[in-house]
Amino acid sequence: MQRSAFSILFFLLIVLTACAGETFDTTFAYQPEDLINTGENVYLENCSRCHQLDGEGFLRIYPNLVGNPLVTLHDPVPIIETVLNGQGTMPGFRNTLTHEQTAAVISYIRNAWGNEASVVFPKQTR
Ligand code: HEC
Repeated sequence: MQRSAFSILFFLLIVLTACAGETFDTTFAYQPEDLINTGENVYLENCSRCHQLDGEGFLRIYPNLVGNPLVTLHDPVPIIETVLNGQGTMPGFRNTLTHEQTAAVISYIRNAWGNEASVVFPKQTR
């Protein structure tokens, strides 16, 4: 009886340690505001020549990112894939941007110009 109680405590300790590690990686190492701020510069340098500074692009040539359902989708995977692999005439940024820069620029466009969606952390853009 005592032994199984000890096992349960030990198991809980392992789970708690794992959770703490996870929280550290996403919450303390990268603050959402820092990702968004860094992302603004990445956007200016890599995306604004097509999608424009205001995110509105050019009608029928470069898609508008403002209020765009793909950009603010709850699941960030489709937008991560678009930025990494490119789409149509848009180049992929897999070899141009670091994981941090990719996460930052996506966090930025998900929260710029009135868009509101969760930020993306670098471990999601690997
Ligand atoms: C050379 C011009 C160009 C650059 C630079 C560019 N894009 Fe694009 N982007 C496009 C075009 C064109 C499309 C539409 C592709 C298609 O569907 O044919 C697109 C599509 C997208 C989409 C999907 C929109 C939708 O509704 O499907 C996102 C998100 C996006 N771009 C983000 C970015 C980000 C972030 C960057 C910078 C890291 C960037 N783009 C750089 C031209 C560009």
